[in-house]
Amino acid sequence: MITLALSKGRIFEETMPLLAAAGIEVTEDPEKSRKLILDTTRPDVRVVLVRASDVPTYVQYGGADLGVTGLDVLLENGNQGMYQPLDLRIAACRLSVAVRNDYDYASAVKQGSRLRVATKYVGLSRDFFASKGVHVDLIKLYGSMELAPLTGLADAIVDLVSTGNTLKANHLVEVERIMDISARLVVNQAALKLKREPIRRIIDAFASAIPSV
Ligand code: ATP
Ligand code: PRP
Repeated sequence: MITLALSKGRIFEETMPLLAAAGIEVTEDPEKSRKLILDTTRPDVRVVLVRASDVPTYVQYGGADLGVTGLDVLLENGNQGMYQPLDLRIAACRLSVAVRNDYDYASAVKQGSRLRVATKYVGLSRDFFASKGVHVDLIKLYGSMELAPLTGLADAIVDLVSTGNTLKANHLVEVERIMDISARLVVNQAALKLKREPIRRIIDAFASAIPSV
């Protein structure tokens, strides 16, 4: 049995065409069912649904053989002990710094002010601001980061941006682009040895179906 860990939403949806290229179709709709283990058209392949940030943990410890997860999750939560053969180029976005559109970020940085930054990405933010020599107080949030500058909780946020619509709708502007993000295929190292052939076939099929830039 091959177990693939996915999170509901965009990762699940954007992985479907890659699975189709491997001749695999998920036979249940995760939005219509409470089931966490989904069958596929291949009796030897199943999908398990986990939180986005839990995908690497499942793969690392062998709860799943393979997984699809964002580079943001891998860099923030640790990417040790997993084979990472492919940048799937799906769920593409960027990690950026954003502030209220009336906040003078450039001056605050230039003056050496201590910035309050709210984010889910505390580790990546610490590294980024340290590399710039900017002093920050980091506030950990689990979602709705955009609210933090609007309520006075923080001067800036570090969050994912794709279309920019969420920032715009909340009167925020992107002031720094930290890095480009996309989803990666991760593979349990022991599984790759023990189930080499079927896993190789899935990796090759995914590779052939990666969207072009
Ligand atoms: P959780 O439910 O555990 O809080 P989440 O809400 O971050 O996770 P998703 O929103 O489904 O989960 O995001 C999964 C991954 O998709 C992220 O880790 C990131 O790599 C990517 N992603 C997030 N937001 C966007 C976006 N707006 N556009 C494209 N890709 C995105
Ligand atoms: C992500 C991210 C931003 C939004 C950016 O949230 O945290 O809020 O996408 O996308 P945009 O630039 O295209 O507007 P998501 O949609 O995943 O919602 P979440 O807060 O439930 O994770």
